[in-house]
Amino acid sequence: MSGRRLGSTTGMSESGLTVAVTGPTGTFGAGLMPLLQRDDRIAKIVGIARRPFDPSSRGWTKMEYRRGDVRDPAALSDALNAADVVVHLAFLIVGGSAQSTRSINVDGTLNVFEASVASGAKRFVYSSSVAAYGFHRDNPVGMTETWPTRPANRLFYAREKAEIEELLHDASSRHPELEVYLLRPPVVLGPNAVGAKALLPGPLGPLGRPLQTRLRRSPLPLPVVVPDIPIQFIHEDDVGDALLQCIVGAGPSGAYNIAGDGVLSAVDVVRELGFWPLPLPGRPARALARRLAQLPYLPSFAQWVEAISQPAIMDTTRARTQLGWTPRYTGLEALQATIRG
Ligand SMILES: NC(=O)c1ccc[n+]([C@@H]2O[C@H](COP(=O)([O-])OP(=O)(O)OC[C@H]3O[C@@H](n4cnc5c(N)ncnc54)[C@H](OP(=O)(O)O)[C@@H]3O)[C@@H](O)[C@H]2O)c1
Repeated sequence: MSGRRLGSTTGMSESGLTVAVTGPTGTFGAGLMPLLQRDDRIAKIVGIARRPFDPSSRGWTKMEYRRGDVRDPAALSDALNAADVVVHLAFLIVGGSAQSTRSINVDGTLNVFEASVASGAKRFVYSSSVAAYGFHRDNPVGMTETWPTRPANRLFYAREKAEIEELLHDASSRHPELEVYLLRPPVVLGPNAVGAKALLPGPLGPLGRPLQTRLRRSPLPLPVVVPDIPIQFIHEDDVGDALLQCIVGAGPSGAYNIAGDGVLSAVDVVRELGFWPLPLPGRPARALARRLAQLPYLPSFAQWVEAISQPAIMDTTRARTQLGWTPRYTGLEALQATIRG
């Protein structure tokens, strides 16, 4: 522990924090790091992820980067050693076998939590997801944080997000000295939306570039059948700002829904992407998605079909009133920034 004093969760200003970030090279890192870099309250950043990375290539001069894996407690202990605040972003969203995603996502998160406790850090900030609510038929539109998080039926990612929240809740009750902040964003967009993810999974990967070229050359918008379902987005910079508010303890610990203003339809998304949308009405589209999600032997990327089986729309009042967070971008602006990027 660095010996620097932290304020309480009342929004007191703090100075000279050492912030350790797992997975800083992905989408969330792109939104957060520039804010930490220019914030005087942050003295030092320690980043840890698996691949080689030079922070100076992005102008992140406060960052000391270490290669390491969240499955390796020794590497975590070393990287988190002097942290006042730990931000846990390392995760496998697409790709990987069931075994490897679970060991990175579930076991890795618990490893990072345990290493944070051992280091004497005062705050643990973790990015959960709207997916933690599952895609249950009784989920209301406009879920608040009082609505329960429940494992989805099929999608591995959503199941793990719900399970991790439960595990963190238990771990946190054993270690009340570590304040736990959870953010629940929807899909994050912006110029770095791809982050550390592969664009198309596995064997579909090589199709990515020819598909883009074909689209660019097409004289007319190509027709695409798209389910007419509501969807929220958030810009990576607004995620970065919400993470920063948690890092400095601008509001009480706990879970916060965050999303850009406005609810779009998948039809809007397809139109913005330059296609000609042929809308499939919401109810049959959701029923079809639910059936497809029940098929046996679904590879992990195909399990994402469950995400359209029920609208996942959140209310973000708590983040605005208690964390003092306000998004700068609407969902549509976040989408447009991605397309431009
Ligand atoms: N992006 C979204 O739309 C979205 C929406 C809601 C919630 N979230 C959540 O937000 C968090 C961050 O997402 P993101 O979009 O920034 O992810 P991302 O772009 O895929 O980046 C993942 C980061 O984790 C690192 N990482 C992966 N496996 C690791 C391991 N075993 N050990 C150490 N580092 C590892 C990656 O670097 P290396 O590959 O080099 O290790 C990279 O820095 C995740 O928990 C995600 O579920 C994301």
